Amino acid sequence: MLKFHNQNNVTPFLSSRDLLYPSSPRPYFLSVCFVILLALIFISCQPMPKEKKETPIEEIIETSLDRAIHQYKQMHAVLPDTLFPRSLDKEGKLVTNPRQWWTSGFFPGSLWYLFEHTGDESLKQMALERTAVLEKEQYNTMDHDIGFKMLCSYGNGLRLTKDSITIPILIQSSESLISRFNDTTGVIKSWEEFKGYTYPVIIDNMMNLELLFWASKVSGNHKYYDIAVSHANKTIDNHFREDNSSYHVLAYDTNTGKVLAKMTAQGAADESAWARGQAWGLYGYTMAYSETKDQKYLKQAEKIANFILDHPNLPEDHIPYWDFNAPDIPNSYRDASAAAIISSALIELSEYVKDASKNKYLTAASIIIRTLSNENYLAKEGENGNFILKHGVGHKPANSEIDVPLSYADYYFIEALIRLKKLKERVE
Ligand code: GLY
Repeated sequence: MLKFHNQNNVTPFLSSRDLLYPSSPRPYFLSVCFVILLALIFISCQPMPKEKKETPIEEIIETSLDRAIHQYKQMHAVLPDTLFPRSLDKEGKLVTNPRQWWTSGFFPGSLWYLFEHTGDESLKQMALERTAVLEKEQYNTMDHDIGFKMLCSYGNGLRLTKDSITIPILIQSSESLISRFNDTTGVIKSWEEFKGYTYPVIIDNMMNLELLFWASKVSGNHKYYDIAVSHANKTIDNHFREDNSSYHVLAYDTNTGKVLAKMTAQGAADESAWARGQAWGLYGYTMAYSETKDQKYLKQAEKIANFILDHPNLPEDHIPYWDFNAPDIPNSYRDASAAAIISSALIELSEYVKDASKNKYLTAASIIIRTLSNENYLAKEGENGNFILKHGVGHKPANSEIDVPLSYADYYFIEALIRLKKLKERVE
């Protein structure tokens, strides 16, 4: 093998022999260069792969709202007159509930929102009909859910029609709710009994305070406001853990006002963070701040938002597992209802906070809306029993409503879509 010696340390001269002689290193080097050059020319002549453009969120909002209108008009057409859509059973058959069940306000409420979005009189008629079925609920004092039922239905109706004939119904509903308040505990009793305790209060109860804030403004009677504030304050004192997650159920002692037990009903464990519970807390304190302008509530809402958004178990697409501490994560069920409530609350919260947090909350809300609007979560027209979203979890420990549509997931999804649309229109 010819070796190149450069004994005199002189730069070698490239002779034609060097080019021709196959074992010389220089022709080999040049051939490699030539091949690389050809490859580069070939690659540069290939069409560039198209950059994947993200669909604008405005377009996603319109598409999802159109789908919601289609689904819910159809739902109205097949639904018995006095019943409300709740979910689907294991065979995919519609599960309905009578007016007494806590979810009965969500279908009329969704119809009101869709009327607001479209101005379509047929949707208004549907909303009016479905709302009227709830009239007798104003006297229901059996649980705290009267706020969900009456504010979503009658409350939205009043907001959009300004028809004051429904005001007494909502005031009576507020009376029914405060009949469950006790001065010693300082909170509204959510249920009649839980695990032998007779004064259980659940984090969900924060949602129903909105009815009382409304009643105070309209009636001029401060008692509704005082009770709502007392409940919200006690809930901050007792319901939250060090990491700002909340317990689901607290049992109070009506003789001393003390907390007897901290438990769960719908979460994975007493010490776990049930996803929808965190969502109710976030929405509840955001609403309480908006009604009172008390900074304490804003801080609490931010703490909850950050617990949710910074949690290592929150998936990248921002649809939480049904419990942040579900034992089988990452193979556990996601809960579209918690995601929808969180997105709606974050959009409102983003309006009350400064720049960095505003961006954080709005970005997270948009991620949720994008995910819920993709084909994994958003029903195709005429499918999913005419519900809008798939993959909600109602009550996992009771083995009930797992990976199904839920009327409240739909309601808060529609609300979030409309809130984000309005916010975008305001800032543009
Ligand atoms: N308020 C009942 C629930 O969130 O399932």
